Amino acid sequence: MSTKTVLITGATSGIGAALFEQYTQNGEQVIACGRDKTKLAAIAERAYQTCSFDMTVPHEIADATQHINLIDILILNAGNCRYIDNAKAFDGELFSDVISTNLTALGWLLQYLLPKVSSGGQVVFVSSSATILPFPRSEAYGASKAGIDYLANSLRFDLVEEEIDVTLIHPGFVKTPLTDKNTFNMPFLITSEEAAKRMIKGIDKRKKYLHFPKRLTFLLKFISFLPSSLWQALITRK
Ligand SMILES: NC(=O)c1ccc[n+]([C@@H]2O[C@H](COP(=O)([O-])OP(=O)(O)OC[C@H]3O[C@@H](n4cnc5c(N)ncnc54)[C@H](OP(=O)(O)O)[C@@H]3O)[C@@H](O)[C@H]2O)c1
Repeated sequence: MSTKTVLITGATSGIGAALFEQYTQNGEQVIACGRDKTKLAAIAERAYQTCSFDMTVPHEIADATQHINLIDILILNAGNCRYIDNAKAFDGELFSDVISTNLTALGWLLQYLLPKVSSGGQVVFVSSSATILPFPRSEAYGASKAGIDYLANSLRFDLVEEEIDVTLIHPGFVKTPLTDKNTFNMPFLITSEEAAKRMIKGIDKRKKYLHFPKRLTFLLKFISFLPSSLWQALITRK
């Protein structure tokens, strides 16, 4: 099998870093992206290329990615999670920041990187199982990820003629610096290595949709079919 060029955003931490490790071990050429230049320098020797940019700043993406040629697999993984702690005193700045990082930035990344994805290539969106059911305090994060779901599912139609496949991923709870900040119980938490393994397997099979761990995602899907009054009571029960 020929070597693939895989670009990963957010390769400096958590799931993206685990994807970087596994794709590199598999012999693929990995373009590692992130903001943190020190962390990027630490993996530069094993990377095919590194790219440092803040994905909410379009000219930084344009400058940092201009030397990238063809990409076989574009993995849009980078993201942030912040919660709305007081709904009545709704924090518009926080909402805007999360939507800007998790959703609006994907528009800029697609503008600069999609033209480089080869015919027969793939685009992968890392959304969240949080979009299966609404959760308290997740107004910003959930809305940003629900936007990604629509973006990915719509883009899939429009890339058929280009022969580019789109994979949408709904991970459950994965132990990373992002979830280390959570103070609530995270059922069926898995490691970033396990998440990356499942993602790579599904991407290899060119799956349209991946969700894991199934013991969590199937439970959420089942609950979502129940009358809304029932699942609302379940979710908000103390
Ligand atoms: N962990 C989970 O349980 C879980 C569950 C479902 C979905 N997800 C999704 O999976 C993705 C990765 O999450 P993670 O848990 O691995 O988080 P993480 O460990 O906090 O890593 C986030 C990555 O995104 C990068 N990033 C954040 N903001 C950026 C920006 N403005 N510009 C450029 N890069 C930026 C960070 O780069 P720097 O370090 O260089 O700043 C870092 O590499 C996210 O989209 C997240 O929503 C995670």
